[in-house]
Amino acid sequence: MTAVFNHGEFDHHEQIVFAHDYKAGLQAIIGIHDTTLGPAAGGVRMSTYHTSDDALTDVLRLSRGMSYKNALAGLALGGGKAVLIGNPRTDKSPELLASLGKAINHLGGRYLAAEDVGMTVVDMEEIAGQTAHVFGRDPKAGYGGEPSPMTALGVLLSIQSCVKYTLGRNNLDGIRVAIQGAGAVGTDLARRLGEEGAQILIADVDPIRAQAAADKARGQVIGIDQVLSADVDVLAPCALGAVINDASIGSLRTKIVCGAANNQLSEPRHGVALAQRGILYAPDYVVNAGGIINVSYEVGGSYDSAKVIKHIQKIPQTLEAIFATSARESLPPDVVADKMAQRLIGRGTPP
Ligand code: NAI
Repeated sequence: MTAVFNHGEFDHHEQIVFAHDYKAGLQAIIGIHDTTLGPAAGGVRMSTYHTSDDALTDVLRLSRGMSYKNALAGLALGGGKAVLIGNPRTDKSPELLASLGKAINHLGGRYLAAEDVGMTVVDMEEIAGQTAHVFGRDPKAGYGGEPSPMTALGVLLSIQSCVKYTLGRNNLDGIRVAIQGAGAVGTDLARRLGEEGAQILIADVDPIRAQAAADKARGQVIGIDQVLSADVDVLAPCALGAVINDASIGSLRTKIVCGAANNQLSEPRHGVALAQRGILYAPDYVVNAGGIINVSYEVGGSYDSAKVIKHIQKIPQTLEAIFATSARESLPPDVVADKMAQRLIGRGTPP
């Protein structure tokens, strides 16, 4: 246990649950970071991890991120996350998902699960067979369904806010945006940006997906090794974390980094490096809160998409406050966002 409490990403988590069921093949870790503002809410991520330590590191970083995200999104929710170790294409079974559902149910509502990478609405319905503490469920039954379109809406509004702040422009006509990742969020973001008159360059490891997204936005496909260094106004990472790193930072040719991917900065010092290069960074967990805002309106059983959209429309105000403090106090926006979130949940720098 020393390895857990002394873990570099531990950050005073309230509870960490290691769930194992050899018959169902379940190996999962549920991290509950902070419940000051409400039950810990966050997605279930299914992924193959090289080691269980990699899975632990991921869940700790992601659940703390959810505390900060939910706090700055103005939600009465704490932060949590679950990682399910396995290949989402080959290892999923009804038994596995039911077993995860039982583990979530044992927490009695301290953790509220939703989808994340590797999980679908159908999987959430399977988990819901064992617990009421699961969201992101089927819209046909009055739930919010797949959160990506609402996440993409939040990213669009965030890009508009960044463009206004940095370029003094009130519209996206002719603004060049490079999107990394033509998945659920990246594709919908491309479409929305295209409708606003932006010029889209989009890259994905899957060229068919990249082309389909480009077609929706009347944009162009770009190589996966070119997207981070494209000469654009906005770089929107919508695939992986840690894309702003020692290898990429020197070659960035964008004025703004604003996208959906979680944990875009490889290390906090990369936020400093972006600021030194005069590149505006919109903190990822503020930008990508649309999905959890969508999910939050399912809690209590009163989902209403109009209310969700109204709530997401507040994201630019939060960004404006972050950018103003960042300029006033000469601190990178990610540091300002963390401080604001820590204040909201009553945590300072851990002792
Ligand atoms: P997704 O799995 O649907 O799409 C990710 C896409 O990135 C895939 O098409 C994949 O082929 C592509 N990709 C992977 N490696 C790549 C690389 N090196 N270069 C270019 N493309 C690459 O995921 P989704 O749902 O679109 O989410 C995107 C990001 O946003 C993820 O990091 C996720 O954690 C984050 N996010 C998503 C939310 C949601 O509502 N879906 C909410 C908050 C954050």
